[in-house]
Amino acid sequence: MSTASLPSYVAPSFSRTPSYTAEPTAYEQRLALNRLRPRPSGEITKQSKGGGVSLRFVAQANDATLPVYGCGATVEGAVEVAKPDGVLSVDVKIKGTLHLKEIAEGGTVTYELCLSRMSLWNKDRDLGVCPPSLSFSLPLPSTFNDGKNDFPLPPTHEVHLNGMPGFRATVEYSVTAYVDKGILKKAATSILPKQQNSMTEPIPFHLTLTSSAYSLAAFMPYGPTPSLLSPNKQHTRIKLLRQSIVDVRNTVVFGTKTDIWRVKTIGQGSFQRGSGTVDSYISTESPIAKAGLLSNIGSSGAKSSGAKPGIVIASPSTTNPDYLYTWTRDSSLVFKAIIDQFTSGQDPSLRTLIDEFVSAEGILQQVSNPSGTVSSGGLGEPKFNIDETAFTGSWGRPQRDGPALRSIAIISYANWLIANGNSSWVTSTLWPIIELDLNYVASNWNQTTFDLWEEVSSSSFFTTAVQHRALREGSALATKIGQTSVVSNYNTQADNSLCFLQSYWNPTGAYITANTGGGRSGKDANTVLTSIHTFDAAAGCDATSFQPCSDKALSNLKVYVDAFRSIYGINSGISSTAAVATGRYPEDSYYNGNPWYLATFAVAEQLYDALIVWNAQGSLDVTSISLDFFRQFSASVAVGTYASSTSTFQTLTAAISNFADGFIAENAKYTPSDGGLSEQYDKNSGSPLSAVDLTWSYASALTVFEARSGFTSPSWGAKGLVVSSSCSGNTGGGGSTVAVTFNVDATTVFGG
Ligand code: NOJ
Ligand code: NOJ
Repeated sequence: MSTASLPSYVAPSFSRTPSYTAEPTAYEQRLALNRLRPRPSGEITKQSKGGGVSLRFVAQANDATLPVYGCGATVEGAVEVAKPDGVLSVDVKIKGTLHLKEIAEGGTVTYELCLSRMSLWNKDRDLGVCPPSLSFSLPLPSTFNDGKNDFPLPPTHEVHLNGMPGFRATVEYSVTAYVDKGILKKAATSILPKQQNSMTEPIPFHLTLTSSAYSLAAFMPYGPTPSLLSPNKQHTRIKLLRQSIVDVRNTVVFGTKTDIWRVKTIGQGSFQRGSGTVDSYISTESPIAKAGLLSNIGSSGAKSSGAKPGIVIASPSTTNPDYLYTWTRDSSLVFKAIIDQFTSGQDPSLRTLIDEFVSAEGILQQVSNPSGTVSSGGLGEPKFNIDETAFTGSWGRPQRDGPALRSIAIISYANWLIANGNSSWVTSTLWPIIELDLNYVASNWNQTTFDLWEEVSSSSFFTTAVQHRALREGSALATKIGQTSVVSNYNTQADNSLCFLQSYWNPTGAYITANTGGGRSGKDANTVLTSIHTFDAAAGCDATSFQPCSDKALSNLKVYVDAFRSIYGINSGISSTAAVATGRYPEDSYYNGNPWYLATFAVAEQLYDALIVWNAQGSLDVTSISLDFFRQFSASVAVGTYASSTSTFQTLTAAISNFADGFIAENAKYTPSDGGLSEQYDKNSGSPLSAVDLTWSYASALTVFEARSGFTSPSWGAKGLVVSSSCSGNTGGGGSTVAVTFNVDATTVFGG
């Protein structure tokens, strides 16, 4: 695999890197040290043949047999001449010799690199008689010159090549003393650069591969599963390689260029398909979910024939139910997931599709429909035909979450484009689409709307929350690209909607009431979906924007999950603190009311999001509001702040991560063997129900898998938001009432 095709990855938000000490431990070895250390006092002496000349090296270790030098060290010592009379000159020279031996044929080439030379005594320069001892001090050079250019000093090690032509290349360093008395006398020795010391113990290395489950799953086909016949082959191996290249300057031996190289494995590790249910489900389901999602996008999706480019079909199902339409909500949530994969570098191939989505939505905005024209409410129309014409049948309309979700998706693409130097395209092409949606949100957020389940006409937590997010992000984007005229209105309406958002909290029941109308308990996946789709890791556990780890959102999650424990047959017998399958809301009667894949995944995703933040901030808070949630995992836990070093933090986060995995395992249990995700599964038999291949189900699988691996979407500005002191919806407030009108007209439409 070339490095160009390696999957890109997202830096982990938590660290599992082992700690290191400055001093080498049992299995580590120091390769170089440039710090001053006590000078060793050992000496090494080498003599010429016949003993007339000695080469003495000082500052060596006591037990050394060859002089050893670190990189850039000074070679120090003395040349001793037994009979100095008649000496003409004394020189000392450091040489590097490169021996290239062609193993099969026995050919040898030797290159000598003269690295440095020093004249210690010369009859013509120095007066008198040559002294019997001449000291020298020569720095070990870090480069050599081939007569023309300087090159870095080659490392000393042998290169063994397998195959033809086989070379053995050895680089040696030596110091030689030359005493000229008419005849040349030499004393020489090899010296060892310190780096050459061979490793006697393996050095452990640690490598963390963190990426989306999808991109890591790409390795799985190469990771054979264990079998009785090949029990040792179950791992995908990772090798740490050292590549040695000997660049022999333009030399040709026997007609072959002599540049030679070798790759040697100096470390090895392995990873394997996780043994747990959840790991193996994710590795199989990720590629299926991604492919299933892409199949439902026109015009080239395998299951979406007839859909225009960039149009997302809700499902290919045409009867019971007929979902072969495009919903603005489903499409925008699906494309938000796609855009996050693109902007985070996980999948650069998605860009064309994103551009097609943007143009398709720009076209749909202009289609007059039963909700109105582009300027008279048509943007609130929930669904269209897949050929981009209006759907004119009766329906629960308008649904005002659509324009908010669509602008959130396109704004995330716009922010990436700006960061990558394409602001002009944002201004000319994206902004006109975003602005229509945001203007609609700014003027209509406080109007009655059908909820995301298309049933209750009132005000809806999910809708208000995504409208608030869209206005905040929209105002920031407008500021960035100089569209300043809209900013103050967006900010005012964002503040107002944030104020109203607080009013959904039910302090008595300790949960978020999903809709202001509808006559139900109000316990609803609506609120959990809100938490994951307005998650902003930068906001910490802020309760004002109901962040996943906020006390209100956690308490709400427990109340919501518990509402499904006794109403589905498949949940019976499951412990009251373990994961169960969850649906839209307990009173649901659509297909008799069943678990939904996207609802059960959303519970896990909220918990993974919470874990990401707790790990990043290094602590978690247990408040009186979230106490019941945390007591599920430790009956004795008390209100307080627990640092990540405490056993309470560790116990709770381990149990919560396990709890989160349990929700994935529930869906895994009821995923058919082909991996297809429909909308629901039967509450008693667990068999898939309702629309097959629901695009939104696939997107919910991809986002929960990513959250489990630590991935977070870019921030949208939720950090530090405060509810205005004049907000009546602020439970801590008590100020005057904010000037907002709600036209609430509650109706329930069941069945489809
Ligand atoms: C029914 C769901 O309740 C709604 O949220 C969704 O938009 C449509 N199906 C299409 O998937
Ligand atoms: C009723 C369902 O409850 C609703 O969610 C769905 O969107 C419509 N029928 C249309 O299928």
